[in-house]
Amino acid sequence: MPKPTSTTRMPAPAIAGPGLVAEYRDRTPASAAAFARAERVLPGGETRAVTSYPPYPVVLADGCGARLWDVDGHMYLDLVNNYTALVHGNAFAPVTDAVADLLPRGVVFASPHHHQVALAERLCQRIPSVERVRFTNSGTEAALLATRIARRATGRSRILLFDGAYHGSATALMPNSPDVVVAPWNDLAAAERLLAGDQPVAAVLAEPFLGAGGVRPATPGFLAGVAEAARSRGALFVLDEVQSLRNGVAGQQGELGLAPDLTLLGKVIGGGFPIGAVGGRADLLALTVGSRTPGHVAHAGTFNGHLAAAVAGLVTLDHLDGAAIDRLTTAGERLAARITAAAAGVDAHVTRAGSILNVHLDPPECLAALHLTLLLDGVYTTPRGMINLSTALTDTDLDEVAAAYTRAFARIADDT
Ligand SMILES: Cc1ncc(COP(=O)(O)O)c(C=O)c1O
Repeated sequence: MPKPTSTTRMPAPAIAGPGLVAEYRDRTPASAAAFARAERVLPGGETRAVTSYPPYPVVLADGCGARLWDVDGHMYLDLVNNYTALVHGNAFAPVTDAVADLLPRGVVFASPHHHQVALAERLCQRIPSVERVRFTNSGTEAALLATRIARRATGRSRILLFDGAYHGSATALMPNSPDVVVAPWNDLAAAERLLAGDQPVAAVLAEPFLGAGGVRPATPGFLAGVAEAARSRGALFVLDEVQSLRNGVAGQQGELGLAPDLTLLGKVIGGGFPIGAVGGRADLLALTVGSRTPGHVAHAGTFNGHLAAAVAGLVTLDHLDGAAIDRLTTAGERLAARITAAAAGVDAHVTRAGSILNVHLDPPECLAALHLTLLLDGVYTTPRGMINLSTALTDTDLDEVAAAYTRAFARIADDT
């Protein structure tokens, strides 16, 4: 039995100081009550690993564009965007219109549908390495499907992952699972050694930057070197673009000059609805087709390619052209510089990949105070310091975000 593990994601931050917590409790009594009710039926009061934090999370009621409202009626600027999935913000009108059109006509059929085909066509147009697409319901499922395809294609079982990577919440994708080997991030020689070892590797899975691992980009040439080393040893190179697709028309592989054998997709390609996909080489994806391949990779799923996700994803991508991505990236760069400059008296630095940022504090326990202070000031961020931008945020909103970080750092510096 493998040891239980929660992956090598960044540790959950410690609780903030008593003064801050008392202020937070005073301001959010309805959230406290809603969370207490949730705890009676949802273990830990939540239904995914990242949405709860001490003393209890803000419970949200509504979202529109770049704004969120909690059950106490407080408004927040949204810098989470459901962990990067809502690249156009909340209730994006072109998406809600398209889904409203779909609802009275049926949302899921046991049949192919033109919305699925159109989304797959768009992905193939945008990402040159993607010749075929197979839809799933989540990024986790996409990663699982890709490892099955890789094992079937190579006849090998080992999967190589990087320390700090996150490819979903499945035991098979955790660092100390059987048939998983872990290489240090940004150390090409170590990856080459593991690939050359006695036990051959079926596939290397890599993100363009460690997302949940703190938004830590690959060093120049690292991923190209890994891809080459993998292929020279008969292993597949699988790039996880579940988070990073929003950073380039062809995902981040376009910018990095990579042509992965398989690409994992999710988040933005569902426009706010649950989805995942494996895209890539036609010969590899053909292994999922039962009628053509003896010993094929059987891949079923009642909701695969759900039509609400397919049409919402298509509309989302159509509004995420090169110009929109450039604006997001420039805004991300500017915000990173402003947050760094604001950190007087606090040991902070910001890492960034496109419009996804992570604020790091030393000691990391101070992140809990930063998170609660920003919430009290109307800015919704993640407990681990990751923030990301949506096209719904205006320059004025971003000025307000930068000012809130300045106030928060000053308060933390005063309190420590
Ligand atoms: C890089 C990466 N891969 C895979 C996943 C898993 O996707 P999902 O949450 O849709 O299962 C995530 C989710 O955060 C991710 O960031």
